[in-house]
Amino acid sequence: MAPGGGSAAARVSDPSGGPVGAGIGRLTGQAARCSGRLQGGWALLPLVGADGLLRAARAAGYAVGAFSVHTPEMVDAVFAAAEARGAPVLLQVGQRAIRHAGLQETASWVIARAARSPVPAALHLDHSRSWDQVVRALRAGCTSVMFDGSDLPFADNVAATAAVVRLAHAAGVPAEGEVGRVGGVEDDPSEDALAARLASVEQAVRFVQDTGVDSLAPAVGNVHGLSDRIPRLDLGRLRVIGEAVAVPLVLHGGSGLDEAQIRAAVAAGVAKVNVDTELRHAFLSALRVAVNGPDHADDPYPALAEARRAVAELAQRRIDTFGSAGRA
Ligand code: 13P
Repeated sequence: MAPGGGSAAARVSDPSGGPVGAGIGRLTGQAARCSGRLQGGWALLPLVGADGLLRAARAAGYAVGAFSVHTPEMVDAVFAAAEARGAPVLLQVGQRAIRHAGLQETASWVIARAARSPVPAALHLDHSRSWDQVVRALRAGCTSVMFDGSDLPFADNVAATAAVVRLAHAAGVPAEGEVGRVGGVEDDPSEDALAARLASVEQAVRFVQDTGVDSLAPAVGNVHGLSDRIPRLDLGRLRVIGEAVAVPLVLHGGSGLDEAQIRAAVAAGVAKVNVDTELRHAFLSALRVAVNGPDHADDPYPALAEARRAVAELAQRRIDTFGSAGRA
């Protein structure tokens, strides 16, 4: 159940009561500057819109890594990995980070680090189920947003996503939607483990047409989180969806997927691969080893540096698999 509950319409309608997008007048600050940047105007934000990155990726047959970040060290690690590989990159702020670190705070880490990075980077709001949160994300400087209506009936998912797409577009920001339902536990542990429901090709086509999303995350057997069994993607279904819709596809649940399946998914039209759980594991494993070492009694930085290094190494390996190295 989405936080706050209520109907889909109640959750996504513009609280001003006016037409969707009218509330955009309230989107001052970051989002307005973001809009100028995304439309090729003045560049005050160091971030780029995700749509350009994803369209270029799809056209050239690679995928951009979309890495969820939870601490400043993880932000730095993802940028370091992208810079080492010369890759465009997306950094994602998800529901766990929003609850613990804060949306504005996480966005600020990313924007500050992006300001001294030569690689094109976008900041993505992941798995939002709330209109207000999307508005906050646009204000905070996100250059990509995802509305997740996958727990809603199809028609409600379409209506809710379409409203968020109009809101995001009014701020010059692209939007992602999910059709079907990706299984497993997302980065929000308060959510129940989700039962997967695969997207049909017909639904995928209608969803893109009726919502105007810029990218589509279809459920094709992918699963959030890590488990003992590697998920089996329905690559045939993914390929047909990829041929049927013009927008880039997004593969959620990148953690633990083998390289062969990832490469096949990219060949089928996936232009963005989301990775979260395995980065958190890498961070914590390295941190655990480091803090138990002899030299860290009163200085947190060496241990955090080890955790950062582990995340950067893993992100680099993933970037290589996605084929985005050298595409910055
Ligand atoms: P993993 O946690 O399986 O990498 O999935 C991340 C994801 O899809 C976030 O949207």
